Amino acid sequence: MKALPMFQLNGVGKSYGMTAALAPLSLTIEQGETIALVGPSGAGKTTLLNILAGLIKPDTGQVKIEGYPPAALPPGPKRSRKVGIMHQQFDLIEQLPVIHNVLAGRLGEWSFFRSLFSLLVPQDVQLARAALSRVGIADKIHLRTSRLSGGEKQRVALARLSVQDPKAFLADEPVSSLDPVRAEDLLVMLTRLAIEENKTLVASLHSPELALRYFSRIIALRNGNIYFDRSASQINSEELAGLYILEKEAIDVESAASGKA
Ligand SMILES: Nc1ncnc2c1ncn2[C@@H]1O[C@H](COP(=O)(O)OP(=O)(O)OP(=O)(O)O)[C@@H](O)[C@H]1O
Ligand SMILES: [Mg+2]
Repeated sequence: MKALPMFQLNGVGKSYGMTAALAPLSLTIEQGETIALVGPSGAGKTTLLNILAGLIKPDTGQVKIEGYPPAALPPGPKRSRKVGIMHQQFDLIEQLPVIHNVLAGRLGEWSFFRSLFSLLVPQDVQLARAALSRVGIADKIHLRTSRLSGGEKQRVALARLSVQDPKAFLADEPVSSLDPVRAEDLLVMLTRLAIEENKTLVASLHSPELALRYFSRIIALRNGNIYFDRSASQINSEELAGLYILEKEAIDVESAASGKA
């Protein structure tokens, strides 16, 4: 029997006042796909990721997360096993040691009491250490999080996501604050983790090159609409360049093409 799609969106739209953040759109994301969401600033990438995570309720349409409407997955264990999201600002508690931030990935599942005292249980330390090893910073486990570099914090956020162990990883611009080498390094880790553990991965990125290199499907948004949605192997560089062309230039190009310039 075929697995249910990880995400199914049908006529999903979202506006903020007069701004249409997302025009009604429909798409299906199968389990195990690795998808890069690309598009200019304001295209609707963060809005779409938050809708997939069940954090924003769309104004129109239906969302299904592995067959469940988001309302059937209230924050807590059921939702945290399905979707986990890395926000752009990582959402780490700076004053706490790294290990606390990593184990916070289990907050959805553990009782508050257990979370509070989790450090007393050796297997939890093991769990955190293993997750930090996978992202190459096991030696930082007891450091105060505020003492880490931006790149290391991003790795802690990734370790937390792996401890949460949801079926789908969502990441909003996971490499935006990193230099090119570290950005690539983090994407290698993120995509390897997703592929090895058969996760669905949807990440927004500002680099079309990295999107093409590390993801199998590219969904491009522009003004809240799907501009294209295709396998990475079927996208050429002109299409990607067209995605980022500014509105005025786009009008000029179109009118020149139709002989009206
Ligand atoms: N909370 C909000 N209140 C009002 N408008 C919003 C809100 N969130 C998003 N928008 C608007 O919705 C549109 C889509 O925003 P969104 O953050 O999804 O874009 P994005 O593709 O993630 O952009 P960026 O690449 O800059 O992060 C933008 O026009 C934005 O100004
Ligand atoms: Mg955004």
